[in-house]
Amino acid sequence: MDFKEKIRVIPDFPQPGIRFKDITTLLKDGKAFHAAIDTLVDRLKEKEIDVIVGPEARGFVVGAPLAYAMGVGFVPVRKSGKLPAETVEVGYSLEYGKDRLAIHRDAVQPGQRVLVADDLLATGGTISATIELVKKLQGEVVGAAFLIELSYLNGREKLSDVDVLSLVTF
Ligand code: PRP
Repeated sequence: MDFKEKIRVIPDFPQPGIRFKDITTLLKDGKAFHAAIDTLVDRLKEKEIDVIVGPEARGFVVGAPLAYAMGVGFVPVRKSGKLPAETVEVGYSLEYGKDRLAIHRDAVQPGQRVLVADDLLATGGTISATIELVKKLQGEVVGAAFLIELSYLNGREKLSDVDVLSLVTF
């Protein structure tokens, strides 16, 4: 399936000059959504993943179905102040600003094999912060999976010690 043609590109959103990659057009297409998740699952099956960690909000839309399809758990990473139990946090830069991300302290066990997942790899700031959180919990990051990679932002270079998988590259 040509996943790229399922993704809508919106010029000048959220700022002039940004060509926003809108995955809602892929998500609302049941066959495309299913095929996208199944394709990632197929490419990840050798990795012996124990748990998938995904950052809010769109990381949930990719990470949770991947986890369900693989029969493993899903752990949410959220913006600071949203998770109810004890957390660890990191600061991070994103394409259009700065924020803090948090994970529950008991969400990943030391030595667990973790896949981090998100809809989009842009500068790599979000996923690097997510990886940092997993490492603070002594999880072993065995890969990072995305629907979309914006190769011109070089996010992959930030993840030099992680196996990066993306479905569509712009
Ligand atoms: C977007 C996207 C990724 C991140 C990618 O999320 O869903 O998480 O940016 O950019 P980066 O590689 O430069 O960090 P956003 O921060 O807009 O949050 P949202 O999913 O809650 O809308």
